[in-house]
Amino acid sequence: MTARVLITGCSSGLGRATALHLAASERRVIATVRSPLAQHALRDEARAADLDLHVIRMDICDAASVVRGLDEIGRLTGGIDALVNNAGVEVTGPMEHTTEENLFWQLETNVVGTYRLTRAILPAMRQARSGHLVFVSSIVGRAARPFLSAYCASKYAVEGLAESLYWEMRPFGVSVSLVEPGRYPSQLTRNGRNIRHAPEDCPYSQLHAEYHAGLATWEPKGYQPDPHEVALAIEQILDTADPPLRRPVGADALATLEAQYGRTFEEYEDDVIRQLGLSSWRSQP
Ligand SMILES: NC(=O)c1ccc[n+]([C@@H]2O[C@H](COP(=O)([O-])OP(=O)(O)OC[C@H]3O[C@@H](n4cnc5c(N)ncnc54)[C@H](OP(=O)(O)O)[C@@H]3O)[C@@H](O)[C@H]2O)c1
Repeated sequence: MTARVLITGCSSGLGRATALHLAASERRVIATVRSPLAQHALRDEARAADLDLHVIRMDICDAASVVRGLDEIGRLTGGIDALVNNAGVEVTGPMEHTTEENLFWQLETNVVGTYRLTRAILPAMRQARSGHLVFVSSIVGRAARPFLSAYCASKYAVEGLAESLYWEMRPFGVSVSLVEPGRYPSQLTRNGRNIRHAPEDCPYSQLHAEYHAGLATWEPKGYQPDPHEVALAIEQILDTADPPLRRPVGADALATLEAQYGRTFEEYEDDVIRQLGLSSWRSQP
């Protein structure tokens, strides 16, 4: 069993659920958050449940904060056996309405920040000849969707980063896995930058409305996505000596892969348009 697990972005959503779940299954969890408020809230929750959960502050976009965080972990636990790169943000909206600054923010967090922390951990795991590196990607890191160009770009980048690292680290006994969730309730949209124009001013508004109305049709009727599914998938990876490189999670993620499997892109495209009811897609006014 993996003993000491570092998880980033645990103030809410998938990171929080994973940190609490892993701590409840007797791992020593170091959870990172950014604000003092989030630190107190998670600490109090862990204490109340008598969990072995350390909550430290780390901003993966700030190199000094990463160094400070790793020093603190060194003092607390002497190191880690697994890193779960979960922290992330999301920019949504038609690409035409987004800005370079939005894209930089997106990539700085999801790609550069993830790279920064992972790279800092690599020497210790390589020397120990063991460890698990988990990257929380997304199913849209394999199947891009409209109005998510910057976010998809970041997750495709994470997929490439992790797949390349897989080839480098496997010979040293360090596993690399990508967790690819579908849609789960979290603070991602609230914390993100949602670039919208008023519907009357936006040439994309009809397609946008159709797309969002259609999204639910990918999920089997009655399916209630629960962040614990992601926590369980991560736990399985940590419990396996030789886990798979990719682990899609969620009924909608699996339906997306099924629609792609063994098909040409054109066949898949027809399926997406039909399933999502994108009636205006081929006939924009
Ligand atoms: N929810 C979904 O449907 C879904 C689907 C696929 C993949 N994902 C991925 O799952 C991961 C977790 O997202 P979530 O959905 O749980 O969203 P969330 O509730 O917004 O959680 C994101 C976490 O990342 C942290 N974070 C953001 N920027 C950071 C930075 N610079 N340094 C350190 N931490 C930072 C946030 O901290 P603050 O509270 O300080 O902002 C928060 O704790 C992300 O990588 C996301 O892309 C989510």
